Amino acid sequence: MLNIYRACPDASTIIQSSRYQAMRLSKRHGCTNTYDHSIRVAELALMFSTVFFCDRIKAIHAALLHDMADSEERKSFGEKCHYMMLHPQEAAVNAARLYGMGDEECAAIRTHMFPLSSSMPHGRIALSVILADKFVSIYEVTLMHLMMQARMVRVSHVRGR
Ligand SMILES: [Fe+2]
Ligand SMILES: [Fe+2]
Repeated sequence: MLNIYRACPDASTIIQSSRYQAMRLSKRHGCTNTYDHSIRVAELALMFSTVFFCDRIKAIHAALLHDMADSEERKSFGEKCHYMMLHPQEAAVNAARLYGMGDEECAAIRTHMFPLSSSMPHGRIALSVILADKFVSIYEVTLMHLMMQARMVRVSHVRGR
């Protein structure tokens, strides 16, 4: 089993930072939170980075930070649309400013909502993050939602696993 903590030496440092832990408070897809969602995306992005032979550390970094934006709680339809379009840019700025991420990671974050993104994704790291985010999101809004209702799924990742 691929493990983001083994594959990426500073994954634990990123995840344990206070800004990252704050994502636990941000609800996502009606059944989870942005912290758990982002770690699931990083685990799957690691798998895709292996399949696509791209830099696994950059793929994990981009996946861990792809949704680090502040406006998830907005409720109205208009604000949700606004969030869907704008949060990748905000997350990319945060990734660079707070965690020192480089151009490739920030570009992958900026385009992770493709085809809703304002720019085209480029490269295998971006592809790994886009696919991982789509698969995880579909899982969360379908299977996980049903399993949560039946209380069959673990609700939170263990810190620093
Ligand atoms: Fe997103
Ligand atoms: Fe996401």
